Amino acid sequence: ALERTLSIIKPDAVAKNVIGEIYARFEKAGLKVVASKMKQLSRAEAEGFYAVHKERPFFNALVEFMISGPVMIQVLQGEGAVLKNRDLMGATNPKEAAAGTIRADFADSIDANAVHGSDAAETAAVEIAYFFATTEVHAR
Ligand code: CMP
Repeated sequence: ALERTLSIIKPDAVAKNVIGEIYARFEKAGLKVVASKMKQLSRAEAEGFYAVHKERPFFNALVEFMISGPVMIQVLQGEGAVLKNRDLMGATNPKEAAAGTIRADFADSIDANAVHGSDAAETAAVEIAYFFATTEVHAR
């Protein structure tokens, strides 16, 4: 099915200057960028976005990392976009990520792991609405 998913290029990958290389991977896989913004997240925004992880031991480190510099946030659209983006990203822990995936190529650790992607269509809808008004997401 035609889907949309939320993608975040995290502060480590923005600092490495690989936004374009990561966008090229989305486009080559048939995903279209239908919304996009660079943003310095506030602590409250990062905590709210990752609220499901609030009780996990890595929560504070995750929030600190996500506010350590600007992120690039985008909505990707395409056939099976959620799974397609997850395949492009590779495993959460870059040490376990398959060769040729974004995390294998650009990530340094499970915290600084280059990208976030929604894990299901339902969470994608919530995550997209967290960062974008409906008028900021473009049919194309
Ligand atoms: P992300 O897809 O952005 O969702 C939550 C993030 O928490 C995850 O990527 C990792 O960067 C980070 N994280 C740190 N430690 C862990 C862990 N043990 N399990 C899952 N995620 C972790």
